[in-house]
Amino acid sequence: MERKIISKNFGVEDSWTLPVYEANGGYAAMRKAFGMDPQAVLEEVKASKIRGRGGAGFPMGLKWSFVPRDIDKPKYLCVNADEGEPGTFKDRHILENDPHMMIEGIIICCWAVGIRKAFIYIRGEFHKQCDRLDSAVREAYEKGYLGRNINSDGFDLDIVVHRGAGAYICGEETGLIESVEGKRGQPRMKPPFPALIGVFDCPTVVNNVETLAALPWILQNGAAAYAAIGTEKSSGTKLWSISGHVERPGVYELDMGVPLRVLLEEHAGGVRNGKKLKAVIPGGSSTPVLTAEEAYTVNLDYESLEKAGSMLGSGAMIIIDEETCMVWVLTILEKFYAHESCGQCPPCREGTAWMHRLLCKIERGEGTLEDLDKLEDIANNIGGKTICVLSDAAAMPAQSFIKKFRHEFEEHIKTGHCRFRDNKWTAALEGVH
Ligand SMILES: Cc1cc2nc3c(=O)[nH]c(=O)nc-3n(C[C@H](O)[C@H](O)[C@H](O)COP(=O)(O)O)c2cc1C
Ligand code: SF4
Repeated sequence: MERKIISKNFGVEDSWTLPVYEANGGYAAMRKAFGMDPQAVLEEVKASKIRGRGGAGFPMGLKWSFVPRDIDKPKYLCVNADEGEPGTFKDRHILENDPHMMIEGIIICCWAVGIRKAFIYIRGEFHKQCDRLDSAVREAYEKGYLGRNINSDGFDLDIVVHRGAGAYICGEETGLIESVEGKRGQPRMKPPFPALIGVFDCPTVVNNVETLAALPWILQNGAAAYAAIGTEKSSGTKLWSISGHVERPGVYELDMGVPLRVLLEEHAGGVRNGKKLKAVIPGGSSTPVLTAEEAYTVNLDYESLEKAGSMLGSGAMIIIDEETCMVWVLTILEKFYAHESCGQCPPCREGTAWMHRLLCKIERGEGTLEDLDKLEDIANNIGGKTICVLSDAAAMPAQSFIKKFRHEFEEHIKTGHCRFRDNKWTAALEGVH
């Protein structure tokens, strides 16, 4: 079902400005939170059962509860606005259309956890979104919603907007923390988790833009109302990004648990040009691909997608039509992962590069069945052995594409020909810088 919680102000004239946000009820949830004990705010968020919208789906309230209450160190919030996962383009809509909803969410989070400084780590390419965010932060300071004594009871809060420089790995929470500290964006070993040792070795909460933007509604309407939306284990609404071979690509806010078929056909207008569906990557490029049959019967919630052998991830669907070569798609994806590996762990650094090279060979029509076995073997062996899960993110598409569309890989190898692309080899697919 369509329900506008996070996108309620999208399309409203000047929705990104403070006067318009306040005219539509903005910052009332912040006042309500200030009237509550911080622990009560945390309990409310726990009871809403909201899970992180950045990809991992970790329960938000539980994450906050890992941060030590009484500790003689500052605590920090890092807002993950890096949005680098291919297929995902929802956070940029929040930043562009309603940055105050996220800022209000940040204030609520910081009050609940006892944080006095928040960093918003925003993707460097988001120029327009960054300008709107900077201006919204300025407005909030001018209005006294940020800065000193913002609740008239001595609570201070500062926000620093930190622009990224184009590395996907800086979206991984510990890579992000390193980058905020001014270092090279390379993930850290976990444990310790950021809740204990994060920015400048201090307890740190990392939350996604969309996760934080849901907080004003949860505080205003109550945890029970939020938990009643969606399914038992996947509460609330979600901003679904849908792209690829679809009539109306875009961002749609629908309840968790909605059938994928409803999003694709009723909202996004179905597969482009009346073609048949071949496959769907359901949760961002790293999530295992679904066949058309699987996609047409799955619901969009954590449990259903897991049962179908995939993941909800960031809720970003890439629609692939019947005339698309799956070898070509996988080659594009693996080029991305090989390029974005930070290089710390040999299985990831070497494995992603090997997978990409083998795929280029198969795509060129020069591959052998041994190459396909080798590709599968690498994919089966790089995940779970590295500092972060980028290696798993690269392995899962390869494993699922080969498992479900093996015939296409074998046909390339046996005939040296691509029936979909007429062997239009694109040199751009080669070479990882
Ligand atoms: C390689 C990689 C890239 C990631 N990129 C992003 C990103 O761009 N945005 C994001 O919110 N989370 C991203 N994540 C997930 C974060 O590590 C983290 O789980 C998330 O920011 C936590 O926020 P949440 O609990 O609100 O989802 C990425 C994870 C990995 C492994
Ligand atoms: S798994 Fe890959 S991206 Fe992650 S730390 Fe290791 S080398 Fe870097």
